[in-house]
Amino acid sequence: MIKIAFIASEAVPFSKTGGLADVAGALPRALASRGAEVRVFLPFYRVTREADRTLSLSKTAGAAETDWRGGRVRFGLRVSHQRGYSVHFIEQDDYFDREGLYGTSAGDYPDNGERFGFFCLAALEAMRKDSFRPDIVHTHDWQSALSLAYLRNRFSEDAFFKGTSSVFTIHNLAYQGLFPREILSAVGLPDNLFHHEEMEFYGRVSFLKAGILYASAVTTVSPTYSREIQTPEFGCGLDGLLRHRSEVLSGILNGVDASEWDPAKDRHIAARYTPDKREGKKTCKADLLKTFGLPIDEEDIPVMGMVTRLAAQKGLDILADALDGLFEEKLRLVILGQGDPSLERRLAEAQKRRPDAFGIRLGFDETLAHKIYAGSDLFLIPSRYEPCGLTQMYSLKYGTIPVVRATGGLEDTVQEFDPETRRGNGFKFREAAPDALLGAVRRAGKILRRKDLWASLVGNAMACDFSWDRSAEDYLRLYRGILGSP
Ligand code: ADP
Ligand code: GLC
Repeated sequence: MIKIAFIASEAVPFSKTGGLADVAGALPRALASRGAEVRVFLPFYRVTREADRTLSLSKTAGAAETDWRGGRVRFGLRVSHQRGYSVHFIEQDDYFDREGLYGTSAGDYPDNGERFGFFCLAALEAMRKDSFRPDIVHTHDWQSALSLAYLRNRFSEDAFFKGTSSVFTIHNLAYQGLFPREILSAVGLPDNLFHHEEMEFYGRVSFLKAGILYASAVTTVSPTYSREIQTPEFGCGLDGLLRHRSEVLSGILNGVDASEWDPAKDRHIAARYTPDKREGKKTCKADLLKTFGLPIDEEDIPVMGMVTRLAAQKGLDILADALDGLFEEKLRLVILGQGDPSLERRLAEAQKRRPDAFGIRLGFDETLAHKIYAGSDLFLIPSRYEPCGLTQMYSLKYGTIPVVRATGGLEDTVQEFDPETRRGNGFKFREAAPDALLGAVRRAGKILRRKDLWASLVGNAMACDFSWDRSAEDYLRLYRGILGSP
């Protein structure tokens, strides 16, 4: 049985800021159901502890120690048994008992380099303590990439990890984990890694670069993004290195966890529905309008939803510039989002101008997210780049038609609807510009007015299969291909 240690900085239902949590919550189960032995390693955050209080998800599993900053540091271990696999928490309250995962609205925590360095090292120590000897260490984004630097530098002579191979998955190349040179000694790595062929990146230390350099295989979360990041436009300064590593770089599309995201079983929404019996969707729409305090009228005006981090990546500036044009179309817009305070302000101001047509909720709200996927007609994702994107896949599953910018995983999962052939599942625009966005919304509006065409389109959307099965098979094939390689 292949043994996989999955190290990630967030996973549902324990902690979440974005799609990484959905992936780290679902992929381990899909791998386990195919016979892999999987252990997931996560920090024990304050939100995790709070969720634990009500859900009793984990129990203590002793403690371990590691060398850290010139002394020995003890940390607690907790474990939660999931269907087919287990989750192991690193409990170190100085680092993780805080309001946010990575920071607050005031910005990132200044000691994030140390916090996640400690997490990466402690996860490896925890494996050793439990004699869990992984065939594969699978790390995700900069927060867990340092595990691979430790494997290579601190544990290279350690018999325990001999023969362990590694995978680094890039969920987002733009978040790199950049810190001053001193971080190397602070996290117990040799200063000679401050070299352009190692972790140095334009005068700083890049944790993400460690993942790309030291992994046996590098993946990203869609085939298109795996090609895009090898170009200067999307490469965030690492495109040269990624081209150099192109032999071991591939793209594996994320999936949808059907136990969480299925309108036939969803307990968050006002009515359940299926591809064959869609009446419940109308109830969900009325419920959504009510939730946002928008009028429910005879005419059945289309609702366009968004659930998003409010970050530059997500193209909200393009949306903000398109708002006046959008409201000329007969349309209602509802947004659930959290993030950049200046974007929050800009959207809130626009909402005040059109309270009859625009509803906005600032914050993180799982139930409301489900209500938006279910109750909207259209779902907008104007991203400037999108490594995979899960929200378009959730929308499709809920029969809500995505209008997306053609980039990354959005390009791979959404096909423009053709009224002639009745093929396709959504609407796409290429140029990152308000007019292009409006063009796609208008095309969608035309189809919306043709009830028979719209019914075919919704049928196509709900028939899309983005289950984890295929992706889990792809990961297993990749793992088998690198077994034993450093
Ligand atoms: P990213 O990881 O870049 O944010 P994804 O599309 O991969 O984008 O995943 C976003 C995930 O986070 C989805 O599960 C989405 O429903 C969820 N999400 C984003 N913003 C919010 C919010 N404000 N409230 C609730 N869920 C949110
Ligand atoms: C990142 C990306 C998003 C992707 C998610 C899960 O947050 O921005 O596109 O779906 O990771 O892989």
